[in-house]
Amino acid sequence: MLQNDLLLRTLRGEPTERTPVWMMRQAGRYLPEYMVLREKYGFFERCQTPELACEITLQPIDIVGVDAAILFSDILVVPQAMGLEVQLIESKGPVLPDPIKSIKDMARVRVPDVDETLGYVFDAIKLIKQELNGRVPLIGFAGSPWTLLCYMVQGKGSKTFDEAKAFCYTQPELAHQLLQMITDTTIAYLKKQVAAGADTLQVFDSWGGLLSPHDFENLSLQYMRQIIHALKDDVPVILFAKGAWHSLKEMADTGAHGLGIDWCIQPERARNFAGTGVTLQGNFDPAKLLAPIPVIQQEVKNMLQAFGPGKHIANLGHGILPNVPVDHARAFVDAVKNFQHA
Ligand code: CP3
Repeated sequence: MLQNDLLLRTLRGEPTERTPVWMMRQAGRYLPEYMVLREKYGFFERCQTPELACEITLQPIDIVGVDAAILFSDILVVPQAMGLEVQLIESKGPVLPDPIKSIKDMARVRVPDVDETLGYVFDAIKLIKQELNGRVPLIGFAGSPWTLLCYMVQGKGSKTFDEAKAFCYTQPELAHQLLQMITDTTIAYLKKQVAAGADTLQVFDSWGGLLSPHDFENLSLQYMRQIIHALKDDVPVILFAKGAWHSLKEMADTGAHGLGIDWCIQPERARNFAGTGVTLQGNFDPAKLLAPIPVIQQEVKNMLQAFGPGKHIANLGHGILPNVPVDHARAFVDAVKNFQHA
């Protein structure tokens, strides 16, 4: 039994006493307690050691008081499980030294047994659920097939992911084969996250907004739709496709319970596009957490008023930045908790 189930009730469209709040990337480098563990252990070591993943997952619950925990892991553990080497290089971000460029590279990619390759994630979830002891729900997650393809083909972060796009536009059959393999792996992976105890799931399509609306349907949404259909009757699913506000209606039609939006669209307009049935999540500009606390407090009020009561989860429009002072993050969370709709 959960003591605080505001997030889950909001995702089901039920009325709540107040708006729930959590922050994307809430377990991370802005927390001094995280930096202590970062000094001692490598990134994937932190992901693969259930005790460390558990400790990091719980940090923002205790320190900033959010209404949900999100599993500490990374979307890139899936390409790893599928057979690609993934490194996380300080100040450079993710690097995949042998990316997928042609049909011969596909020989290295497989749809793995997720228990064998990602069992450490399920062990972490079980431990986290035990340590949370019902305080708040636990969010499991995965990257979208398109966003994972971006890294698997480009081999590193990018502002445009032009090489990943070129791969899709010149070798479409291969691209769709890869997207389907990622989709099949992700469905098995998320099913097991739920079996281990995840209360809800978020799919991160961080690079969906780089595609035209037509290509977004073809390369991203059709695969996310498969994932949502496979999971939505087990737990509520949140879909976050950054920058893809043009397709909010199509995303709502997938049956996802929640849709994440970024700060580049007005909440009222997002609601018009998405319709009244779905819960919206967002959409505070992460850089605005660098503003003075009174500004944060005022802007949170403006945001909550714009979304209106019900069917809204307060969050940032993308991950929290490493240079945000902890008391500013806490001010954001407290401002949501202290607000009452008229
Ligand atoms: O939200 C959370 O607190 C849970 C943990 C989480 C991480 N990554 C931990 C992490 C989640 C949900 C992710 C998702 C993720 N990872 C996404 C989708 C969300 C988004 O931000 O768009 C993407 C694109 C990645 C890939 C990735 N992992 C990048 C680009 C980077 C480097 C950039 C950065 O922020 O450092 C990572 C590393 C990473 N993943 C860190 C953390 C806490 C930083 C590692 C460190 O320096 O200690």
